[in-house]
Amino acid sequence: MINYVTVMKRSDQKACVNIQKRTFPRLQTYTDFASEVSKVNSLYLVAHLEKCSGLTPNQNAVTNDLCECKTSSKNVTGFIGSWSASDEIQIIEFMVHPKFRGFGIGRLLLTSLIDKADSLKSKLITLEVRESNKNALSLYKKFGFKISGVRKNYYSNRTEDAILMNLELNS
Ligand SMILES: CC(C)(COP(=O)(O)OP(=O)(O)OC[C@H]1O[C@@H](n2cnc3c(N)ncnc32)[C@H](O)[C@@H]1OP(=O)(O)O)[C@@H](O)C(=O)NCCC(=O)NCCS
Repeated sequence: MINYVTVMKRSDQKACVNIQKRTFPRLQTYTDFASEVSKVNSLYLVAHLEKCSGLTPNQNAVTNDLCECKTSSKNVTGFIGSWSASDEIQIIEFMVHPKFRGFGIGRLLLTSLIDKADSLKSKLITLEVRESNKNALSLYKKFGFKISGVRKNYYSNRTEDAILMNLELNS
């Protein structure tokens, strides 16, 4: 499966909100990606499927879903969003369409963000992740992120800690 990464465009809004809805069906508000990408300090990247024909179970998806169309933003398979401040980059949100998890797209997006951070001469990438999110924790550890702290009972149900992680860059 060939994926490639680009900077997010305003036209990727619907596809990215669709991925958010599928990932967090009970969320009541979704990110305004179109406004997010226009901020000077934001760095949002999307992964696109170069050719999805034959790979999606629902070939007739009507709106905002993955389809056969090669040029459309409908072929967005995941995204990673971050803000930069001084020489740090903070990962704000990061998700892959549930149908396309486990194919290396998360790795591709994270690699691309780290490359961008390097080219911006950033020194540190920071993030927070739910203690129960073993898949994400495993991914971050494989990339060399280290645990830098814990925020107790951080999430809205007040029963789960946020794990804070950092990746130091060499630039
Ligand atoms: C976390 C997430 C972005 C990973 O995306 P992905 O495309 O599925 O990840 P990849 O296929 O690139 O896998 C990379 C690594 O993640 C970990 N991982 C991903 N899926 C996993 C699974 N089902 N079980 C265990 N580890 C898993 C593994 O360490 C894997 O490395 P490996 O391929 O060497 O085993 C994706 O699971 C997702 O969207 N989750 C929901 C949103 C979320 O939790 N985002 C992170 C918020 S901090």
